[in-house]
Amino acid sequence: MCGIIGYVGKRQAAPILIDGLKRLEYRGYDSSGIAVVENAKIKLIKSEGKIAELEKRSSGGKKLNGTFGIGHTRWATHGEPNTTNAHPHVSNDGRFAVVHNGIIENFAELKSELIADGCKFASETDSEVIPQLLQRIYDGDMLAALRTLESRLKGSYAVGIVCADEPDRLYAVRKDNPLIIGLGDGENFIVSDISAALRYTRKFVLLDNSETAVVTPDGIKCYDASGAPIEKEPYTVDWDVDRAEKGGYPHFMIKEIHEQPRALTDTLRPRISDGDIDLDGINFDKSYVDGLTGIDIVGCGSAYHAGIVGKYFIEKHCRIPVVNILASEYIYSDPITDGKRLTVIISQSGETADTLAALRLAKKLGSKTLAIVNVVHSAIARDADSVLYTHAGPEIAVATTKGYTTQVAALYLLGLKLAAIKGTITQKRFTDLVEKLEALPNNVTEQLAEPEVEKVKTLAARYADHHCVFFIGRGTDYAASLEGALKLKEISYIHAEAYAAGELKHGTISLIEQGTLTLALTTQTALYHKMESNIKSVESRGGTVLAIASPANSHIGECCNDMLTIPECDDDLSPVLTAVVLQLFAYYVALDRKCDIDKPRNLAKSVTVE
Ligand code: BG6
Repeated sequence: MCGIIGYVGKRQAAPILIDGLKRLEYRGYDSSGIAVVENAKIKLIKSEGKIAELEKRSSGGKKLNGTFGIGHTRWATHGEPNTTNAHPHVSNDGRFAVVHNGIIENFAELKSELIADGCKFASETDSEVIPQLLQRIYDGDMLAALRTLESRLKGSYAVGIVCADEPDRLYAVRKDNPLIIGLGDGENFIVSDISAALRYTRKFVLLDNSETAVVTPDGIKCYDASGAPIEKEPYTVDWDVDRAEKGGYPHFMIKEIHEQPRALTDTLRPRISDGDIDLDGINFDKSYVDGLTGIDIVGCGSAYHAGIVGKYFIEKHCRIPVVNILASEYIYSDPITDGKRLTVIISQSGETADTLAALRLAKKLGSKTLAIVNVVHSAIARDADSVLYTHAGPEIAVATTKGYTTQVAALYLLGLKLAAIKGTITQKRFTDLVEKLEALPNNVTEQLAEPEVEKVKTLAARYADHHCVFFIGRGTDYAASLEGALKLKEISYIHAEAYAAGELKHGTISLIEQGTLTLALTTQTALYHKMESNIKSVESRGGTVLAIASPANSHIGECCNDMLTIPECDDDLSPVLTAVVLQLFAYYVALDRKCDIDKPRNLAKSVTVE
């Protein structure tokens, strides 16, 4: 996620803004910038790369004089990571500087409307529509202008604004993206997370959705969506910086598990409008899709597992054969591919060496390549013929969570798009699946509610001392079980193995002994009875079974030792929800075992060597 800081007070703003941005570096970013107002003129310095570069360009902030301003660290979502695309963005008339976190889903339509109105855009970003719109809306009443602005924006945003005509004040407005006001002594701050201002104050006010704040050196005034003044209760924070960086969570992993509703919304919503799917303009013409002899999905680790979930979905709805191949195998297997095979490359970091090598080989062999990547302008994103970004935001924990579920979501979008082009899905089923897809973020929010998490915690404590755990499932549940096993292995160091439930009896069931734990994914209603007999065969050998079931299959609990259920969702989409349960289960088992959750032994977030 990007980082925001604003300062208004009696001291020089620029050095404080730079210091605040340094506190936000941990979040991951690719560029940064500050804007300060001096004598009713906005002065701007931005830079690609690290804050140190911004510090150098601004001589530690000394080049910008003024006692109020805004700063930003950018995590690119729209537009390459470069100085031009870095925030703050300034309106054509130079009167408004804006920093923005989030995604403006309707930026394309707003941008063309503004261009038609003579607006000159400097950047490729969605964020730049905000200052340009403000310039055209503002008539001296900023609060009214912000209300009109909000009525035009669709998506998620946390916005900090300075106006050259309005001295000694910052404006803040937010929707579905955090924005907090720091209350100092004769100086105040706006920040995207408190770690940016913790050095100066421990007193904060949280802005809620569609509220606006006017922040001056002497205090703040807040207004609700209708413009009525509201009182906000300050709160005091006793977190140290480390805890603040995790947003109050004990680990980045659990923070990122809880960021999944936002990450899924940001990945799905901008691609779905009026019930149709637009893959950011990636077009496959019907003759190409009809002519495909197959789709190869290539990745490593969790990205590979996401691809297997994608296989089940794409084969079912597109009737195109899909092959999943580990990138490290693909590059040395003399792969059989050509222009009639689409190669889908999946990578959170976009820098995994094996996966990058596989991409380059597929291209060399004539296959069209589509990358599903989280990091804009990463090596894989740059090399692929087309890119469908996951908008998970920076992922810091080594074990991926939101990176994986947004990859699966992106594959669902791709599968539905291809099925619609190929004509292998009815309009009714397409519409139904799109609606269920849009509901996933709320389903996950439901799963992350305290009582649901408590149920997982209880079972994690019950099973944390096991040394060998099986994950079984059939069809899409088998695909989902692979990631469940990896999550547990990665962070708790328990040997865990995923198995097609129907395959267990062909050998591996010999390992089941008294008390051996098996997690049985049972969300596929059509396969319920098959799963039931597989579960019973485990239990007849003394095995312990924890079912992960959909509500429709929750009666499986009667023949299991324990059960966790997922919210109601389409069977074809259940891997996103079973992933959340299994992430939580792995997290709380690892917590119980006092493992180093964010940095598990021997692992790296991205392996950039073969
Ligand atoms: C591994 C990570 O090193 O690389 C896994 O520990 C990840 O979590 C795998 O799934 C692939 O990484 P990426 O960035 O290509 O998805």
